[in-house]
Amino acid sequence: MKVRQSDVLIIGSGIAGLMVAELLSSHKNVTIITKSKWKHSNSRLAQGGIAAAVTKEDHWLDHFFDTLAAGDEHNSEEMTRLLVKEGLEMVKHLIQIGVPFDRNESGELILAQEGAHRIRRILHAGGDATGHAIVSTLFERVSKHTTIIEEEMVVDLIVENECCQGAWTINSAGEKTFYSSPSVVLAAGGAGGLYPVTSNDASVTGDGFAIAYRAGAKLADLEFVQFHPTMLVCNGQAQGLISEAVRGEGAVLVTESGERLMIGVHEQEDLAPRDVVSRAIFHKIQEGEQVYLDIKDVSNFHERFPTISEMCKKNGIDLQKGLLPVMPGAHFNMGGVSTDQKGRTTLSNLYAVGEVAHTGVHGANRLASNSLLEGIVFAKQAANAILTNGNSRSSSTVPSFAALKSNHYPSKKEIQKVMEKYVGIIRTKQGLQPAVQWFESYLKRISARSIYEEVSIDDVTKLNMLTSGWLIASAALRRTESRGGHYRSDYPLKDQLRWHQQTIYFQKDNQFSHNELVNVR
Ligand code: SIN
Repeated sequence: MKVRQSDVLIIGSGIAGLMVAELLSSHKNVTIITKSKWKHSNSRLAQGGIAAAVTKEDHWLDHFFDTLAAGDEHNSEEMTRLLVKEGLEMVKHLIQIGVPFDRNESGELILAQEGAHRIRRILHAGGDATGHAIVSTLFERVSKHTTIIEEEMVVDLIVENECCQGAWTINSAGEKTFYSSPSVVLAAGGAGGLYPVTSNDASVTGDGFAIAYRAGAKLADLEFVQFHPTMLVCNGQAQGLISEAVRGEGAVLVTESGERLMIGVHEQEDLAPRDVVSRAIFHKIQEGEQVYLDIKDVSNFHERFPTISEMCKKNGIDLQKGLLPVMPGAHFNMGGVSTDQKGRTTLSNLYAVGEVAHTGVHGANRLASNSLLEGIVFAKQAANAILTNGNSRSSSTVPSFAALKSNHYPSKKEIQKVMEKYVGIIRTKQGLQPAVQWFESYLKRISARSIYEEVSIDDVTKLNMLTSGWLIASAALRRTESRGGHYRSDYPLKDQLRWHQQTIYFQKDNQFSHNELVNVR
């Protein structure tokens, strides 16, 4: 087994991981490991933009209140305040390092509108290619001073006495490497790939949640999964995201007979919170009707949304007709690995940033364009903490791991089917119970294996999908109310008496069992 050493080990190459590297690589020896190519991240696919109260008409407090309203009374106010205030500074940093945000002829930033924002405050770049512009700028700066290892997957973190000391990986040839590091940053994204219809990159399969869980870190709020209302559908298959910014520019949802879908459903109509819009579309589709995004009132559609126009063209959709068929898809996990203000997890020397982290800023439902913001804000917090962390230990542990035998895994499609059917947009006890049992029927058969045994990226991915799926389903079964991205048709209302500001935590109690420790705060 090869052994490598670095001051900082970052797992994942999206905006949060790259920003940690940007802030640390002139001070420390930084290594980024990514399961796929560095470009394959949700951050790079982000269309809409990044929210910040940059104008005189706006104030961070307004952004704060919009974030809380979307979060359905479940946000951490302290962390949300940090997000929107520090976010302003970090967006200025992005401008300073050269991210080409769109500007008008006078050089002023052009701001977009998205769901549940009461004012235009979304900066964007290349029309609808904001994520691409930001991560390309960061990569350009970071790649000169950082070791970037692609197509290598972390199997497990190395933990001794609740202190993370590195991670071990496999590559596609099955070769294993042990990375020793006094500061490990988990930036592996969420779990959109657990569902068959998702806006996420195909590589995003809940790896970060599962790795952290196996290592013994605490996770929170996993039941809250955001479904984006508008994925483009062609021949029954989702083809990619249509940004909410399209509705911000005047597009509306209509039924087959041309009726406005969101009239009378919510006061913010087509720009209502995503869970509300997704459920409205989901119900119509269940009734056997297709829902369309009517873009006839959007001026200069092609210029404003070049990526989406290209995607429509590729799928044979005639933009002149102005009707884009849509369906909801899994988009974002509000829950994740619990962190404090500095991105520190419950294991020392392990940080979590970006979508994999649970900072509490999103509550039960993330406000549009707050995810890139969270990535850069908490990357800075973690980078500062790492700079002042003198805590260095080296490990003598020979890692072992827990897994199923190769031929004992279900297929990815089977896992996705269970998640879609029972842990999707509408949930019930009758569906969640068998889903949890289904996951447990696999997970209880895992056993300790020697590091010298063969292991493949595909098997580790499936193990991670089973683990994350089980965590999400178990959390969803426990929360007997509906709030934000968690909707139970058997408990359709928000239960303020039982569940107000209550968080469901998971933490594994010993290395090879799946007896979870569930705390309800
Ligand atoms: C979108 O462009 O609609 C997605 C942006 C986000 O999820 O914040």
